[in-house]
Amino acid sequence: MSDETGEKREISLRVAETKQKDYGRGKVRLSVSAMEAIGVEVGDVVELFAKRRSASIAWPAYIEDQEDDLVRMDPLTRQNIGASIGDKVLVRKATYKRAEVVKLAVSASMQGSIQEGFQAYVKKKLFDFVVVQGDKVAVTLLGQPMMFVVVYVRPSGIVKIDDDTQVLISDKPVEELEQRPITYDDIGGLDDVILRVREMIELPMKHPELFRRLGIEPPKGVLLYGPPGVGKTLLAKAVATESEANFISIKGPEIYSKWVGESERAIRSIFRKARQSAPCVVFLDEVESIAPIRGLAYGDSRVSENVISQLLTELDGMEELENIVVLAATNRPDMLDPALLRPGRLDMLVYIPPPDLQARKEILRIHTSRMPLTEDVSLDDLASKTEGYSGADLEELVREAGMEALKRDRNASKVTLQDFERALGAVKPSITDDMVRFYAEWNEKAKKLRRVEKPELLGWI
Ligand SMILES: Nc1ncnc2c1ncn2[C@@H]1O[C@H](COP(=O)(O)OP(=O)(O)OP(=O)(O)O)[C@@H](O)[C@H]1O
Ligand SMILES: [Mg+2]
Repeated sequence: MSDETGEKREISLRVAETKQKDYGRGKVRLSVSAMEAIGVEVGDVVELFAKRRSASIAWPAYIEDQEDDLVRMDPLTRQNIGASIGDKVLVRKATYKRAEVVKLAVSASMQGSIQEGFQAYVKKKLFDFVVVQGDKVAVTLLGQPMMFVVVYVRPSGIVKIDDDTQVLISDKPVEELEQRPITYDDIGGLDDVILRVREMIELPMKHPELFRRLGIEPPKGVLLYGPPGVGKTLLAKAVATESEANFISIKGPEIYSKWVGESERAIRSIFRKARQSAPCVVFLDEVESIAPIRGLAYGDSRVSENVISQLLTELDGMEELENIVVLAATNRPDMLDPALLRPGRLDMLVYIPPPDLQARKEILRIHTSRMPLTEDVSLDDLASKTEGYSGADLEELVREAGMEALKRDRNASKVTLQDFERALGAVKPSITDDMVRFYAEWNEKAKKLRRVEKPELLGWI
């Protein structure tokens, strides 16, 4: 960008956190002197560049801000420019155009809940926002943040959304959209499981001396198993946020799809990276597709056997490394190559059960925490009406109720009991009796397989 003299005016500022009330507003806060330095005024569009380019609206610094070299922005903006707190970011006045078309995509799990008229709602919420292609934006739907990726803008570059902008929602979902870091508070009804997992994963990495002193062998690998949608992946994400270790995550099917013909090498490089960044948790999600029982192999079974043996080699090589732990998850423990469950490998098995009454209430509370509800909505009643619903089903139920509210009234400000009742008609429980029996059998097997026994250490967390 040039000013009248043709000279580039940009400054380097330090990224700082913004107050919660500013989250999702598409604004960054700058000091008066920073604004002067780049020739912008409050309300002007600024371009931000760290690892990636994005744009935002300039807003004045908080009165209590003493330092001039800060730019305060919400976590989403930081993600959009690839910067963390304390990083340097280049800021300058932006040239932008009116957005003619902005096309947004949602994650696959949200795709189903997009309904008629939703576009108009999103557009209203994004009025006056500036975006570039590839940005993530959040729209709150009755208190629930919904994430979108800007997959296309016309004209290209930085654009500002106004009344005439055509806001479209793509029918092609994006793979996965992280909302914000997941913490243990986001998990309902699994308090005991969380403690056990922390005991097995965090404790040995934080206090290896304790284990040595007591002569206990900490587990090298922990397998979370249980029905779909009960919070296995969610729990791993919370571990990633809350443990003071590095976290490398890989989804089983990706080993074959992303690294076609290179899957073995991918495994090797994941563990190499883990050793370099220890203490480190390696998370193998949907692990049955990395190491399935022979004969059940995906695609080219020879490739798959090489991958399994590479994985076993890596797990065995971890023996002397006390600061790397493997966490794995599956909803099909029966499909796992049994070699993976031998001592010294995935030697702790933790069952993640479907939510009981109390847990369902807790999960409903978490997912409605920011949703304005009318007084007739009782979470106790909803919990008792949702036997067989997994955590994922309950999340969908809440989202569906929000959509019902909007269908009823475009300007609805609260979600009612009737909205929930309609949603209950649309979202069905996914946990069947057969499933419960299947996992009960597996719990018996797991008891026999679990050879690592150790005293209670929970008090140490
Ligand atoms: N215990 C829970 N507390 C709160 N939310 C939950 C819980 N379980 C599931 N959910 C919601 O459902 C979503 C999906 O759950 P998650 O991906 O963890 O399931 P999973 O057990 O990994 O299933 P799968 O076996 O299909 O991979 C979560 O992102 C969360 O929003
Ligand atoms: Mg999962």
